[in-house]
Amino acid sequence: MTIPEKLIYPRTGDKATIYLKNVISSPNIMVGDYTMYNDFVQDPVLFEKNNVLYHYPINHDKLVIGKFCSIACGARFLFNSANHRMNALSTYPFPLFFEEWGLDQKDVTDSWDNKGDIVVGNDVWIGYEAVILAGVTIGDGAIIGTRALVTKDVPPYTVVGGVPARPIKKRFSDETVSELLEIKWWDWPKEKIADNIEAIKSGSIEKLR
Ligand SMILES: CC(C)(COP(=O)(O)OP(=O)(O)OC[C@H]1O[C@@H](n2cnc3c(N)ncnc32)[C@H](O)[C@@H]1OP(=O)(O)O)[C@@H](O)C(=O)NCCC(=O)NCCS
Repeated sequence: MTIPEKLIYPRTGDKATIYLKNVISSPNIMVGDYTMYNDFVQDPVLFEKNNVLYHYPINHDKLVIGKFCSIACGARFLFNSANHRMNALSTYPFPLFFEEWGLDQKDVTDSWDNKGDIVVGNDVWIGYEAVILAGVTIGDGAIIGTRALVTKDVPPYTVVGGVPARPIKKRFSDETVSELLEIKWWDWPKEKIADNIEAIKSGSIEKLR
């Protein structure tokens, strides 16, 4: 089945910006409504191939991305099959070469350490060429700086940057963050979001109450 163009390219005449959800084919990748990806170097439609790396179906690990995220060009998600076993005496992936070493093919995933899924909340902005490692959860409203290497969980509404990524600042007071996490505007019906866009844009929680 071909997907209507409008569902992939929300901006007329802009083939670099896509609604990510509508180009995903892997059952192990889930993306929420309105989350967008922009790529001016490669075809953004190839996100699964170019940006979700070492994500082998045999490992069943998941990439879950919420609604209304903005993912910048070249952001990458590195999954568990990128790892090698570090508690073994050798990091060489013997189970991967089961034919050479007479090992059981079903144990191929023993080649790597499993750190878990990557979960990205709602309204997360991921900067240019940021890299997110397996096992990381990024909270709602977080910002991942350009070229950050995210090795640990990022709390909601926290800005992180650097290699490895460290918190730079909180976006709002704890009270405002709690309120935003309660309001969850991203789960509202489209009409309600449309009616409240000025409040959402304003930076003032009072207008959203
Ligand atoms: C992370 C980011 C949002 C922070 O913006 P900001 O709040 O204006 O940050 P500031 O310029 O006030 O910097 C605050 C501190 O964080 C540091 N910092 C900012 N961006 C950083 C980054 N990407 N990596 C590491 N450190 C960063 C600054 O050096 C500064 O450090 P200091 O307090 O020791 O002086 C921004 O720098 C960024 O990376 N934006 C992403 C842009 C992008 O990739 N866009 C793609 C198109 S959507």
